[in-house]
Amino acid sequence: MKIGILTSGGDCPGLNAVIRGAVLKGIAVHGQEFVGFRDGWRGVVEGDIIEIPRTLVRGIAKQGGTILGTSRTNPFENGGGPDVIKAHMDRLGIDAIIAIGGEGTLAAAKRLTDVGLKIVGVPKTIDNDLDATDYTFGFDTAVEIATEAIDRLRTTGESHHRCMIAEVMGRHVGWIALHSGMASGAHAILIPEQRVSIDQIAAWVKLAHDRGRAPLVVVAEGFSTDTMEQAHSERGLDTFGRPRLGGIGERLAPELEALTGIETRATVLGHIQRGGVPTAFDRVLATRLGMAAIDSVVEGRWGTMVSLNGTDIVHVGFDAALGRLKTVPQDRYDEARVLFG
Ligand code: F6P
Repeated sequence: MKIGILTSGGDCPGLNAVIRGAVLKGIAVHGQEFVGFRDGWRGVVEGDIIEIPRTLVRGIAKQGGTILGTSRTNPFENGGGPDVIKAHMDRLGIDAIIAIGGEGTLAAAKRLTDVGLKIVGVPKTIDNDLDATDYTFGFDTAVEIATEAIDRLRTTGESHHRCMIAEVMGRHVGWIALHSGMASGAHAILIPEQRVSIDQIAAWVKLAHDRGRAPLVVVAEGFSTDTMEQAHSERGLDTFGRPRLGGIGERLAPELEALTGIETRATVLGHIQRGGVPTAFDRVLATRLGMAAIDSVVEGRWGTMVSLNGTDIVHVGFDAALGRLKTVPQDRYDEARVLFG
């Protein structure tokens, strides 16, 4: 059996560990052959592949990025569609596809399995916002990177008696902000799920300052206060038609400075959070998911993705993960909020 693997959407530390896990198990246990589609669905639509012998995956579990490349290509556009993809698969002798990606990738995979293509999924996102899996690989690494960076911001903030704002990723949900903020002892954590007024944020900042601390604010890129809602919509859409985010930290800094009288600086961590070496936790999770995806293929579980349930890897239908985001629940935010003062 020949299996094609693709990585699609924004990259994520651990993608290579998934590929390695799948390839090593597939070759060792089932004698399968592997190819990789270059740059996600673009490679599928164009039939652009590379062979993946065992030697190609040697030592890659610790490498960031993806050896296959990625893109945000939609397989139903750009000359694609099920017939084109099926024709490429037949010509190249590919029996099944393992699609590693986020909600967009899994939604496309579902549409393609609905018309008979043999695809299984592996969920991926640093944002940890995919439903039907307890954690996604890449999240732990992103939190680790953000926490380290925030710890560094704290020491320079303390030297200068400044308020420091760290803007982390999180377009729709605040998991990275919540975890890195709790880990680094932030005095305010701001996430898209929770509307907080600028006056409340200023009050938290002043409280920390009055206690002799350098106030530390961790904000997810998708956060907005009531007064900033307008500013968000004015930023328009990015090239993928998504609301253009980022810059919330830069917008908060002058407002907080004006309200508190405390000199304030903002730092955007950005794509630093998606790059580099995955943590051991993410490598293990990603490897296990890759291996379990081989079981899905062997068992013909088309239209399902592998998922983490507690400490077990299970198989769930694409439907379970689509259409709703896993947001930060109220009790998790309330728990963190107690620590603000
Ligand atoms: O989905 C992961 C994510 O990192 C989001 O947190 C962020 O908003 C987005 O990707 C950035 O995407 P791009 O790399 O396309 O700018």
